[in-house]
Amino acid sequence: MIELRGVTKAWPGGAGVQALDLTVPEGTCCALIGPSGCGKTTTLRLVNRLVEPDAGSIRIAGQDALAQDPVQLRRGIGYVIQEGGLFPHRRVGANVAVVPALLGWDAARTRARVEEVLALVGLDPAVYRDRWPHQLSGGERQRVGVARALAADPPVLLLDEPFGAVDPLRRAQLQEEVLALLKRLRKTVLLVTHDVQEAVRLGDSVALMRAGRLVQHAPPAAMLARPADGFAADFLGADRALTRLGLFRISDAARDAATVPGEALPEATTLRDALSAMLERGVRALPVTEGGSLSLEALLASR
Ligand SMILES: Nc1ncnc2c1ncn2[C@@H]1O[C@H](COP(=O)(O)OP(=O)(O)O)[C@@H](O)[C@H]1O
Ligand SMILES: [Mg+2]
Repeated sequence: MIELRGVTKAWPGGAGVQALDLTVPEGTCCALIGPSGCGKTTTLRLVNRLVEPDAGSIRIAGQDALAQDPVQLRRGIGYVIQEGGLFPHRRVGANVAVVPALLGWDAARTRARVEEVLALVGLDPAVYRDRWPHQLSGGERQRVGVARALAADPPVLLLDEPFGAVDPLRRAQLQEEVLALLKRLRKTVLLVTHDVQEAVRLGDSVALMRAGRLVQHAPPAAMLARPADGFAADFLGADRALTRLGLFRISDAARDAATVPGEALPEATTLRDALSAMLERGVRALPVTEGGSLSLEALLASR
């Protein structure tokens, strides 16, 4: 659990972060969004004390983070920045081993752990361990960054726009994979992104900031349905109702027993894609692969 209470940091001339209250329950992911310069990165760096607050309290797993030795604190917090933040003159294996080395692990234990976390993020250790960062694609560098953050098995992860440098086609897959992994490992995650679609897909909750202040903190579907104000509505986009439909699947909607003609869609299809298929075909009902059909009325009722 990460708990920020009244956390404030003023930068000379900038908004910084003002009186921020934010709780991220154990094992959940909070996606932090907002315009460039609103204080997202500052918030992450306050949590791992790369930035010291002017006021407020920060608790991690019930412990007062501000009373701990910052170096000690950071060993319990994985931090992934854009592009992975790898050391360019160290091979992949040495990059992943940075924290185990700081913790004084012996060579055998470190080597075993490096292999384990590389495999966890989907990189074959035999292929990748001895490569240089410049020999990797953006997505591979990002995976190595995540592997490095996981090496000492910290309970908390801070991810700062970690998927920004990955090409759009691969981004969705990498996002899903990494978040599924962090969920499986029961990590508590604070994820910064400026991408609304990414935030609502990956966050158990979404925290929207503006000029250093928290505008709204809510589960994605609730925020998309009820933006707190005009700024939130604008930031979430005019298509926020469609974005919200993308969070639900045909299997979440009521199904008609009767079948209808046409190519069937699997029940894992999002309601957004189902609506799109109805528009494309000019029909009010679609057959579902697993049986029965989805009507436009059922789709609208399931919101
Ligand atoms: N080390 C710093 N010194 C002075 N101002 C800073 C520093 N870091 C961030 N700022 C200012 O704080 C504001 C928020 O920055 P940041 O947290 O990086 O925003 P975001 O990540 O949301 O784009 C910006 O106006 C930025 O210029
Ligand atoms: Mg930033």
